[in-house]
Amino acid sequence: MNTPEFYISEIQKLRKEKNAVILAHYYQDEAIQDIADFVGDSLELARKAIETEADIIVFAGVSFMAETAKILNPNKKVVLPDLSAGCSLADNCVAEDFAKFKERYPDHKVVTYINTSAEIKAMSDYVCTSSNAVKVINSIPADQKILFAPDKNLGAYLNKQTGRNMVLWDGSCIVHEAFSLEKLIELHLEYPEAKIVAHPESEDPILRVAHSIGSTSQMMNYIVNSPSDTFIVATEVGILHQLKKKIPNKTLIPAPSHEDNTCACSECAFMKVNTIEKLYLCLRDELPEITIDETLRKKALLPIEKMLALS
Ligand code: 13P
Ligand code: SF4
Repeated sequence: MNTPEFYISEIQKLRKEKNAVILAHYYQDEAIQDIADFVGDSLELARKAIETEADIIVFAGVSFMAETAKILNPNKKVVLPDLSAGCSLADNCVAEDFAKFKERYPDHKVVTYINTSAEIKAMSDYVCTSSNAVKVINSIPADQKILFAPDKNLGAYLNKQTGRNMVLWDGSCIVHEAFSLEKLIELHLEYPEAKIVAHPESEDPILRVAHSIGSTSQMMNYIVNSPSDTFIVATEVGILHQLKKKIPNKTLIPAPSHEDNTCACSECAFMKVNTIEKLYLCLRDELPEITIDETLRKKALLPIEKMLALS
C-alpha cells in the first residue's frame, strides 16, 4: 500500500495522459471528492456525464450512477473504482420481481427513481431523481395511474407533494431509514435554533419535522443560502465535506440514527467501498468497466431522456 500522496500524484498524471474526467457523488470519501473534477447530486452527475469531452469517465459513486453515465455515453469508457458499490434501493428491486409487479397494474405508467438497474429503467416510462421527481410526476396527466419504485419513503413523500396516489414498490434506503425521530427531537431541544434539513429518502416522521427537504444538492443550497447558522443534516455524512469548505463558520450536526450512541454518523457502506487507492487502480487499469447490452441500453435511455428534457 502506498501513501495517499502517491495515489493523488499518480491520479493527476494519469487523468491528463488518458483524457479522463473524475465525477464524484457527495457521499464519497473526502480524498475522492477533493480530487474529482466535479462533485454533485445524481442528476448533476448525469448531466456532467453528457457534457464531458473526456474519453474516460471515472465514476466515483455507486454502480447505478456509473451505469446511467454509460447509458448516456455508449461511446465512452466508463469505469467505477469498485464494481460491488451497490445500493439498497437498486439491489432490492430485481427485474424478474419488478416485471411481475408491473403485470399486476397494466394500466399504470411506471416512474422509477434513478436508483435502479438498467433493466428496471428499461421497464420504466419515466426516470426521476429526488431533485426533479415532483416535476416529472406533475408532467403526467392527473388521471393517469402511476407505479413508483423502488423507494416507498420517497414515493410517499411524492404522493403528498403531488396529491397523487401512486402505487409504491416496497423498498427503502438503509442509510436514510436509520434516522431516529426520538433522538432528532432530543437533539433539536439542545439546538432549538437549528434548521433540520432532510433528504426525501428519509421516513415520513423525519420529513414532517424537517424545515427543508431536497436532493443532496438542494440540501446544500438551502444550508449555504439560509440566514441560519446551525443545521441538523439528515443524509449521508459525506455531504458535510463540501459544506464545511463552503460555509466554515456555520454549525453542521449530522442527524442521529437509531444505532448511533457515539459519533451520530450515517455512512453509506456502498458508497464507501470506493477508496483513493481503488480510484487510482481503476484509472490506471481502466477497470472495472461498465458494459451494457446495446438493446437494453437503448430501452433504458428513453425514460432518462424524458427526465432530462423535463428538468
Ligand atoms: P441525490 O440525487 O440527492 O444525490 O441522491 C442520491 C442518493 O443515493 C441518495 O441516497
Ligand atoms: Fe443507495 Fe441509500 Fe447509499 Fe444512496 S445512501 S446509494 S440510496 S444505499
